[in-house]
Amino acid sequence: MQALSREWRRKSQRTAFVPTMGNLHAGHLALVGQAAIQADRVVVSIFVNPLQFNEPTDFKNYPRTLDEDLQKLADYPVDAIFLPTEAELYPAGREATTIVEVPGLSDVLEGASRPGHFRGVTTVVAKLFNCVLPDVALFGEKDFQQLLVVRRMVADLDMPIEIVSHPTLREPDGLAMSSRNRRLNAEQRARAPVLYQVLVRSRDRIRQGEADFTVLEHQAGGDLSAAGLMPDYVAIRRAEDLADPRPGDELVIVAAARLGKTRLIDNVRV
Ligand code: PAJ
Repeated sequence: MQALSREWRRKSQRTAFVPTMGNLHAGHLALVGQAAIQADRVVVSIFVNPLQFNEPTDFKNYPRTLDEDLQKLADYPVDAIFLPTEAELYPAGREATTIVEVPGLSDVLEGASRPGHFRGVTTVVAKLFNCVLPDVALFGEKDFQQLLVVRRMVADLDMPIEIVSHPTLREPDGLAMSSRNRRLNAEQRARAPVLYQVLVRSRDRIRQGEADFTVLEHQAGGDLSAAGLMPDYVAIRRAEDLADPRPGDELVIVAAARLGKTRLIDNVRV
């Protein structure tokens, strides 16, 4: 992979990179389409990274659909599909590998609910960057905190890579597209859009002038519970760094909730 990427660089071609865990849907493919606009060469990686799963059953059950993924990518201008194995990426074993960790930002919200998750993400993304040597890498706003954590890693470690974000792709009823949605049964699937609806309702109330965010967060959590979801968190934060907001800050409302055994996350900007 490095040899190929170096060859492209020698020819002054720019490489755009889309890291994924596969089970590709329209959200992933939108990043791939955006990558083709950003650069001369496009690399997509598919690797279900064991380091970022805090629940072994979640890792075991994560959908692996390589044949379908390759078929979907065939419709896009992709120059290389990078499919590393666990033995290649973690030759010393999962426990013994060198890790990359962004402090602080990795420990709140999604990081508090999923201990070790972002350490696993930053470690694998740093490694994938070193394999692919991209000029630009694309990440979805769907995983808003992940996007911020990756940006911080790149800034802190002086990685010469531009991070480009892409808006969340949604189903017609508003549910954010996610590989985990396929685990929902019909009844849960019908209920799932409530997560986005609750976020939009909170955003509208902020726009209408509601300034007591604690009240809004509690109401949103109550609305999720009433709809049969189990909220992990609903939080109104500063969009730049997820800090507690001050007047005038650009905001993001982030939320995570369980629906049966499936955990859903979503966010909206204000
Ligand atoms: P994965 O969940 O496969 O997502 C790959 C990329 O697609 C991420 O940047 C994610 O934010 C983006 N994405 C997912 N659903 C989206 C949607 N509905 N709209 C727009 N973009 C969406 O995120 C990961 O994999 C992993 O953590 C990874 C970065 C690959 C490291 O292992």
